Amino acid sequence: MEFVTLNNGVQMPLVGYGTYNVAGATAERHVTMALEAGYRAIDTAQCYHNEKNVGKAIAKSGISRDQVFITAKTWTVDYASTKRSIDQTLRNLGTDYVDLLLVHEPAGDIGGNYTALEDAYREGKARAIGVSNFIGKVFQQLVNCCTVIPAVNQVETHVYRQQHDMQTLCASKGTVLASWSPLCSGEHDIFKDPALKKIAAAHGVSVAQVALRALVQRGIPVVPKSKNAKRMRQNLDVFGFALTDDEMARIATLDERRSLFNWY
Ligand SMILES: NC(=O)c1ccc[n+]([C@@H]2O[C@H](COP(=O)([O-])OP(=O)(O)OC[C@H]3O[C@@H](n4cnc5c(N)ncnc54)[C@H](OP(=O)(O)O)[C@@H]3O)[C@@H](O)[C@H]2O)c1
Repeated sequence: MEFVTLNNGVQMPLVGYGTYNVAGATAERHVTMALEAGYRAIDTAQCYHNEKNVGKAIAKSGISRDQVFITAKTWTVDYASTKRSIDQTLRNLGTDYVDLLLVHEPAGDIGGNYTALEDAYREGKARAIGVSNFIGKVFQQLVNCCTVIPAVNQVETHVYRQQHDMQTLCASKGTVLASWSPLCSGEHDIFKDPALKKIAAAHGVSVAQVALRALVQRGIPVVPKSKNAKRMRQNLDVFGFALTDDEMARIATLDERRSLFNWY
C-alpha cells in the first residue's frame, strides 16, 4: 500500500474503502470483505448511519486499531452540536480516536464546526482534521481564519471532474485534495469510456483501475466502493503499473470541469 503524507506527518493510505449508502449488516459484511481483501483505510460519515457497523467489522477483523486508517465526517450545524457528535462518532465506532475527521460540507456555522474539530484534534480525538466539499472561495475563507490548516479536503474528483485548479489551491495551503466517488458512483458510462478502455487494454488492467490510477498517480487518495470481493481487490491493485505522460494527457482531455451530482 502506498501513502500520502499529510501536513502534520500523518500517513494516509492512497486507496481506502468507501461506505456511502450502505448501512446495517450489509455495511458490516462489506467492510469485513474489504479488510479481508487488504484495505487498511475505511471512509465513513455520520450521515451514512453505518459507524457502528464499520466499528464492529474492524473490531471483529482482529486487525490492530493502529493498522486501520478511519476517516469520519461530521454532519452538524454549530460548535456545540459538532463537539457532541464527535464523541458520538467515537462511541459508535468503538474507538477513542479517528485518523482523519472531516467537516462533511460547508453548511451552518462553518467556523464553529471547524473549531470543534480543532479542539478534538488538540484533545487527541483525531490524528488529522480537514474538510469535505469546500470548493474555491469557501475553502480559502476557512484557511484564512482557522488555526489548524486542514490536512485534507475531500471533494468530488474523478476522470470527468479532475479538480486540477482545486488541487493546486489546496496544495498551496498545505492541504491534500482527496477524491470522493472516484468511479463516478458508476455513472456517466465510465466503464464503457473508449479512451479509458484503450488505455486499460494497453496495460492489461480494467477501466476502474485506470480511473483510480489516474488519481493516485497525482497523489490524490481515493475511496472506491464495491460490494464485490473481486472488484474490491482489483481497486486496491493500482500500484503495479504506471500511466505514461501521453496517457495522463489523454485522460486530462476527459475533464468536463463540472459536477456529475450537483452537490458541490
Ligand atoms: N464527502 C462526500 O461528500 C462524499 C460524497 C460521495 C461519496 N463519498 C465517499 O466516496 C466513496 C466512493 O464513492 P461512491 O460510493 O459514490 O462510488 P464509487 O466508488 O465512485 O463507484 C461505485 C460504483 O462503481 C462500481 N465498481 C466499483 N469497482 C468497480 C470495478 N473494479 N469494476 C466495475 N465496477 C466497479 C460499483 O459497483 P459494484 O458494487 O457492483 O462493484 C458501484 O456501482 C463513498 O462510498 C464515500 O465513502 C464521499
